[in-house]
Amino acid sequence: MLNIVILAAGLGKRMQSDLPKVLHRIAGKPMLAHVLDNARALHPDRIVVVTGHGAEKVQAAFQEQGDVAFALQQPQQGTGHAVQQALPLLVGSDASDDATLVLYGDVPLVQPETLRALLEARADGLALLTEKVADPTGYGRIVRDHAGQVQRIVEHKDADQAELAINEVNTGILAAPTGKLREWLGRINNNNAQGEYYLTDIVALSVTDGVPVRAAHPGAPWETLGVNSRVQQAELERAWQREQARRLLEKGVTLADPERFDLRGELVCGRDVFIDVGCVFEGKVQLADGVHIGPHCVLRDASIGAGTRIDAFTHIEQAVVAQDARLGPYARLRPGADIGPEAHVGNFVEIKKSTLGHGSKANHLAYIGDAQIGARVNIGAGTITCNYDGVNKHLTVIEDDAFIGSDTQLVAPVTVGKGATLAAGTTLTRDAPAEQLTLSRVPQTTVDGWKRPQKKA
Ligand code: UD1
Ligand code: CA
Repeated sequence: MLNIVILAAGLGKRMQSDLPKVLHRIAGKPMLAHVLDNARALHPDRIVVVTGHGAEKVQAAFQEQGDVAFALQQPQQGTGHAVQQALPLLVGSDASDDATLVLYGDVPLVQPETLRALLEARADGLALLTEKVADPTGYGRIVRDHAGQVQRIVEHKDADQAELAINEVNTGILAAPTGKLREWLGRINNNNAQGEYYLTDIVALSVTDGVPVRAAHPGAPWETLGVNSRVQQAELERAWQREQARRLLEKGVTLADPERFDLRGELVCGRDVFIDVGCVFEGKVQLADGVHIGPHCVLRDASIGAGTRIDAFTHIEQAVVAQDARLGPYARLRPGADIGPEAHVGNFVEIKKSTLGHGSKANHLAYIGDAQIGARVNIGAGTITCNYDGVNKHLTVIEDDAFIGSDTQLVAPVTVGKGATLAAGTTLTRDAPAEQLTLSRVPQTTVDGWKRPQKKA
């Protein structure tokens, strides 16, 4: 049986925020959600989050995820005291293969592979995730004997000169046999520089009890970086974006500049996808083979078909685009836009809850909302579907091969028949019959002898 205890009771004072620290985001996702997702990858039998500062907010944010239990730590008397609060919720026996893994809510990016390696290193004993760093200031130091066996951890504030020189540090993440952990936590005290119950004191107890202590190491240095300030949050954000970019590059995606790439969700790409600088991907985005995305586009929960080209400054949300379409520059697809193959959506065209059929074009300055548009339709510049009467939304239907002249208003509900032509400037209030020209236009007049007003002298 595997328990995972996530420590998240700390204050996070340096964030200077009303939001509990673990709810601050990396790549658009709360830090604690990252930790939970990485924890779940290990298929634990129990996940316990220890809350304290901002407990209600933290609990409220994750309550509906039924697999998370919460333990309240009030007041906060150290990491050992924090794990003590979780003990009543842990499952499993005293058998040495029942383990408890301790993670930190503000160390969001430790990867499942690293945690698996830690659990493997544990075998039947205690395992610590440690690493060597250039500047160990502030960290607990890993004290080893002459044979290289881990003896104990000494906190920075309790360390002597020799110990301060040790550059192998405790990341804080560890895996222990659950039964022994209960026992050890009953034996720790707070006789130390900070007057706290240190989780790290279980290491010496393990050595005393003859339970082997082993160390494992993170796969990458950014995995164990914690967030205590906005500066560290920004640094970790970039490190993670760089890693996500690297993974896409490895899969054959071209990024014009991996340093100017932001993924806040999941991005699945086909072969030979190109992504220019400054794009932001949110939610679940799929780009099929050969998709080309120009600079500074935002795509949120979208699927883009093979060979489609999206030019600069295009904004797409909850929309589907078929293959070989062309969008932008400056196009906007809102929720429910469904763009057919080889369709064109040009600059300053906004499309909401509408289908645009195969090969249809809206190339400039239009609003299309609640519309069903067939194939090979041409939507002239300045066309607007008047879909909203102030209370209800109404449907506009434009059948195949229709030609909508520039600056037309389609007052919904209204239908334009197959092959119909609407003359420029038409305000369409009744259905336009198929294959015919329909127009509504104020007759043009010229006033004879009219003079421009003159300025009085
Ligand atoms: C801890 C470790 C130290 C390690 C360092 C890595 C101990 C005694 N020290 O030190 O060896 O090098 O992390 O960053 O474990 N927390 C609670 N309740 C508490 C105290 C802390 O939930 O009463 C949580 C915090 O929210 C945080 C984590 O535990 O997520 C670590 O706390 P922090 O105060 O940052 O630990 P350090 O003293 O830095
Ligand atoms: Ca810390």
